[in-house]
Amino acid sequence: MNGLRAAALLSLPLTLPLTLPAESYLWFKSFHIIGVVVWFAGLFYLVRLFIYHQEAADQPEPLRGAFQAQYGLMEKRLANIITTPGMVVALACAAGLLWLNPAWLQQGWMHAKLGFVAALLAYHMVCYRLMGQLQRGECGWSGRQLRALNELPTLLLVIVVLLVVFKQQFPTGAATWLTVALVVFMAGSIQFYARWRRLRAEREASHAS
Ligand code: HEM
Repeated sequence: MNGLRAAALLSLPLTLPLTLPAESYLWFKSFHIIGVVVWFAGLFYLVRLFIYHQEAADQPEPLRGAFQAQYGLMEKRLANIITTPGMVVALACAAGLLWLNPAWLQQGWMHAKLGFVAALLAYHMVCYRLMGQLQRGECGWSGRQLRALNELPTLLLVIVVLLVVFKQQFPTGAATWLTVALVVFMAGSIQFYARWRRLRAEREASHAS
């Protein structure tokens, strides 16, 4: 990679307010990836907890209250101790990477990436909103809708990783379509399996009664 600002800064006079070691690009990139992994782990698990939280409403008391209180606590801790800090690390290190090589900001793949990251940030905020509604017992989403919502970050993850790896050579051939088809198939299978389990539970309950 040419024009690495960290390396260039090393050769400038020491009067600069801040000089970074040449390997800082690799540090930023490592922690950017670590932050992204933690952020996504949090987002995936958070909405799964929302599903359990919402479906606990079908339980009789006192189970319902106990489950909902426990899920509420787990959600708050996951969001505030794992998910949001992961996001902050990922974004802070991304800013570091752009600062070292601002030329990326002139490239189309980076504009596309920033657009999808904006969608991911919107998703993050929607999760916080849902968490507040669940805590207050005001969430109007069904378990099925939450399951569908949980598929969105998978799609964003695949697109953003392809963009950052392929950059200007973003692939549009069979392999990309196969990947998209695989993601859609996996999302559909998860929905189908959840529906099958729900129907089976309903059948068993009606047999028992
Ligand atoms: C504001 C948000 C973001 C910015 C500005 C940003 C910027 C960057 C930059 C400049 C690089 C270095 C590219 C290179 O060395 O070739 C990078 C690497 C990477 N980013 Fe991001 N990023 C952001 C968010 C994300 C998100 C949300 C994901 C995951 C979905 C992600 C996944 C990655 C991965 C996997 C790499 C390593 C790619 C490689 O080494 O080939 N980034 N990012």
